[in-house]
Amino acid sequence: MSAYELLTTVHILAALASGIGFGLRGHVRLIMNRPLANPLLRIGPHVADTLLLASGIALWVVTGWSLWSWFGLKLALVAGYLVLGIRALRGRARHRALLMYLAALLLFLAAVVVSAGKPGL
Ligand code: HEM
Repeated sequence: MSAYELLTTVHILAALASGIGFGLRGHVRLIMNRPLANPLLRIGPHVADTLLLASGIALWVVTGWSLWSWFGLKLALVAGYLVLGIRALRGRARHRALLMYLAALLLFLAAVVVSAGKPGL
């Protein structure tokens, strides 16, 4: 397996773990209305997000994609996902937090679709 293939595999697995981790955290905090007691749910997503970012930056260095391509759109979607996700899980007003949670999940899915399709913009 080449370094590029290894990076891509780590990146895709980290993206999967980040999305599932965020989905579960939001479900426990906002839908079940419970605190995040499980250490796996408290620490795991931070590990996944760090790996996702590190492998993403490494892939960017290797592939050299321009920001004026699908990659710029993907970065904007990822930034929205992270900002809305953090605000949703810290939010006090439940209804607003739920809306931000759902919007963050949609942005995550959009980032997956854009990354997998790499449309020529
Ligand atoms: C929500 C966060 C993210 C998701 C869901 C995601 C998802 C993906 C997926 C599924 C691929 C593989 C596409 C393929 O089949 O070739 C990919 C590739 C890539 N991602 Fe991400 N990613 C995320 C964050 C990032 C970040 C933060 C960066 C950079 C700072 C990044 C940079 C890249 C690059 C450069 C590629 C390689 C494209 C290529 O092989 O030409 N990603 N991403």
